[in-house]
Amino acid sequence: PLVSLRQILDHAADHDYGLPAFNVTNLETVHAVLQAADKTKSPVIIQASQSARAFIDDVFLKHLIRASVERYPHLSICFHQDHGSSPEVCEKAMDLGFSSVMMDGSLKADGKTPSDFAYNVDVTARTARSAHLKGISVEGEIGVLGSLETGSGEQEDGHGFEGKLGKEELLTDPEEAARFVEATGVDALAVAIGTSHGAYKFSKKPTAETLAMAVIGAIHRRLPNTHLVMHGASSVPEELQQLINEFGGEIQPTFGVPLEEIVRGIKSGVRKVNIDTDLRMAFTGALRRYLSENKASFDIRGILKPTIARMRAECELRFEMFGCAGQA
Ligand code: G3H
Ligand code: 13P
Ligand code: NA
Ligand code: ZN
Repeated sequence: PLVSLRQILDHAADHDYGLPAFNVTNLETVHAVLQAADKTKSPVIIQASQSARAFIDDVFLKHLIRASVERYPHLSICFHQDHGSSPEVCEKAMDLGFSSVMMDGSLKADGKTPSDFAYNVDVTARTARSAHLKGISVEGEIGVLGSLETGSGEQEDGHGFEGKLGKEELLTDPEEAARFVEATGVDALAVAIGTSHGAYKFSKKPTAETLAMAVIGAIHRRLPNTHLVMHGASSVPEELQQLINEFGGEIQPTFGVPLEEIVRGIKSGVRKVNIDTDLRMAFTGALRRYLSENKASFDIRGILKPTIARMRAECELRFEMFGCAGQA
């Protein structure tokens, strides 16, 4: 059935596991995530950004949500709006049938300019009041996602901010997080611990200095009933970088969040782990390989099947490692 984020994450907290939340872009990504959840018997969070909504088309997305639930009635499925930039964006998502929304008030409605605490509380509290009347969950964000290495937002994909920020802004303060949750009533909270969106997170394997996992424990102890969300949690596996580059791609050497660090984070209280880049890379690697090895092919199904298989394998690995396999 379609379930709220609160329902899924309460179960995860009660049973000490975490869930990947996979961003989807098209039918193939939806198939890959759901097939992996079905195979591993996992509850599943599927999320769409505003740009993914625009790409898929809201009406088609509305029916993709219904189709997913009809096709996999035995799975607990949450459809989540990722990084809604305004209460209006979140309202529209609720109308489409999403069972959870993120109101990201850490940035202004342009998705670029860091906002202030009062603005963030206002837009998030308004969204939460409206969502909760409908049984829909809300994720908020406090702190700015960005690199502790460089003090900047992401470069390649998704959302970021302009200019440089210091450590204070790039790490969520547990006391400020507590005031935010109190004032907004959010079910889940995205925290900033040094990760950023996209493939280029760290120039070397992250350390306790650049990936501040200890902050998670401190926030979790302060807010045991608010589910913590790690954004920018792709691992950017070296294997996928090599696959893409072997078949003509030009990914620069880079490091993501190692899977064992995510598992450590889940032990400290992380419940939702946002992953987009890893599926983009799996898709791209499989596509490049297939086209390069099958130069005469122009059959759309033949071309896309290996992309689904590669993305599905990445999903299955994370369902198993995060402890949600068997929990559906
Ligand atoms: O939140 C960031 C995700 O990677 C989505 O990025 O807006 O390009 O779909 P996008
Ligand atoms: P990645 O770019 O690390 O996959 O992060 C995705 C994300 O946080 C979506 O909200
Ligand atoms: Na933010
Ligand atoms: Zn994000």
